[in-house]
Amino acid sequence: MTDRGTWGSRFGFVLAAAGSAVGLGNIWGFPTQVGQGGGAAFVLLYLACIVFICFPILIAELALGRRTQTDPVGAFRAVQPNSRWWMAGAIFVAAGVGILSFYAVIAGWTLAYIWFAATGAAGSSAEEIGAFFTEFTSSGPVNLFLTFVIMAVTGGVLLGGVRSGIERMTKLMMPMLIGLLLILAARAVTLPGAAEGLAYYLRPDFSRVFDIGTVNAALGQAFFSLSLGMGTMLVYGSYLTRREGIAKAALMVVGLDTAIALLAGFIIFPSGFSIPGFDPSASGPGLIFVVLPRLFATLPGGSLFGAAFFILLTMAALTSAVSLLEVPVAHCIDAHGWPRRKAVIVMTLGTFCLAAPSALANGASRFFSALPVVGMDFQTLMITMWNNFALPIGGFLTAVFVGYVWRIDKALEELLAEQAWFPGRQLWGVLIRYACPFAIVVILVYTVLSMIG
Ligand code: TRP
Repeated sequence: MTDRGTWGSRFGFVLAAAGSAVGLGNIWGFPTQVGQGGGAAFVLLYLACIVFICFPILIAELALGRRTQTDPVGAFRAVQPNSRWWMAGAIFVAAGVGILSFYAVIAGWTLAYIWFAATGAAGSSAEEIGAFFTEFTSSGPVNLFLTFVIMAVTGGVLLGGVRSGIERMTKLMMPMLIGLLLILAARAVTLPGAAEGLAYYLRPDFSRVFDIGTVNAALGQAFFSLSLGMGTMLVYGSYLTRREGIAKAALMVVGLDTAIALLAGFIIFPSGFSIPGFDPSASGPGLIFVVLPRLFATLPGGSLFGAAFFILLTMAALTSAVSLLEVPVAHCIDAHGWPRRKAVIVMTLGTFCLAAPSALANGASRFFSALPVVGMDFQTLMITMWNNFALPIGGFLTAVFVGYVWRIDKALEELLAEQAWFPGRQLWGVLIRYACPFAIVVILVYTVLSMIG
C-alpha cells in the first residue's frame, strides 16, 4: 500500500471524482452526441440511462473499490480468487489506455483553441470558422505535437501522486468553469434564432427515441460522462475513506456531471441555431469548435471569454485524462509492484503511441474511412468501440459481479458502513441484480443485430 495515497480532505473524494467525470464528455461529447442523435430525443434517453443504469452501477463500482482497496484486476481477484473474473479488470485497464488515446487528441484541440480564441485566428464569420477548423485538424504534425503535450502534462500530474495533483486542480477549476458556462448560456439564449435551438434541444422527436443506434449512443455517452464502466471510479473508490458515505458522494457526482452537460447544451444549440443554415449533425466532432468561436465573436471582450473558456475546458480535460491514466498506472503499481514513476512513464509513452493514429486520423481520414470492415472514420471507430461497447460491457460485468458474486448483502455492509445515508437500498439491489444487466444486454444485442442486419 506504500505508493497509493488517499484523499486529503473529507470533500476531496467528491472533488476528485467530479474532476474525473466533468471533462470533454460533458462539453464536447454531450452536445456532439445530441447533434448526432437528433436533439431532445437523445437528451431524454441519456437522462434515463443516467438514472436507471449508470447511477446504480456507479454506487456498485465505488463500493467494490473501497472494499478491496486495490486496482481493478486486484479487486476482482480479492473478492473471487482463483476465477477468471480478473479478466474483467484487464478489460478495464485496456479501455483506460484506449479511451485516453483519442481523448488526448481532442484535449489537444482545446489546448490549441486557447491560442486561437485569444488571437482571433479561428476567424469571425461562420464560414471562416468552419474552414479554419477543418484546416487545423487536418494538420497531422501539429495534432501529434498537441497530443504529446497533453500526455506529458497528464503523466506529470500523476507523478506528483494522487492527492496533491488532482484535488488541488479541481478545487480551483470547477467553480470557475460553472460560472463561465452560466454566463455563456445566458448570452446564448438571448441570441436571435435561439428559440429554434431550444426547441431542438428540449422538444423530443419521439420517432428518434426508438432508434436503437440512438439508444446505444446515449448509453455509451452516459457511461463515458460519468467515467464509469472501466474502473476509474473503482480506483477512486479505493482511495475513499469510510467516513464518507458512498451513496451521497455518488449522488453529488452524478448531479454535478449531468448539470454541466445539460448546461453545455444550453450554450451550443441556441448559439448554433443563431447561425443561418446551421445543421447540428453536420459538423460531427467539430461541433463545439465551429459554434463557440462564433458565440465569442458576439460577446464584448469575446477573445478574453474565449481564451478563458478553453483554458478551463483544457483543465477539465486534464483532470479527466489523469483519471483515465490512473487506472493502468494503479494496475502496474498494485499488481506488478512497479514504482509509481516507472508505471507513469511507461503508460504515458504507451498511450501516446496508441494516440498517434487518432491524432493523424483527420489528416489521413481518407485512409481510415476506406477501411473496409468499419466504413467509419477512425475517431468514430474508437468512440463506438470503447464508449458504446467496452464501457457498457464493463458496467454489466460490474453489476453482475457485485450482484451475484460479491452479493448485495455484502455490498450493503460496505455501503452502510458508519451508518451512511442510503435511501432506496432495496431498489438499488434490484436494479443491480436484474434491471441494469438486463437493460445493457438488450441494448447491446439489438445494436449488434441492427449493425449486421
Ligand atoms: N468522464 C470524462 C469526461 O466526461 C472522461 C473520463 C475520465 C472517462 N475517466 C474515464 C470516461 C473513465 C470513461 C471511463 O470527459
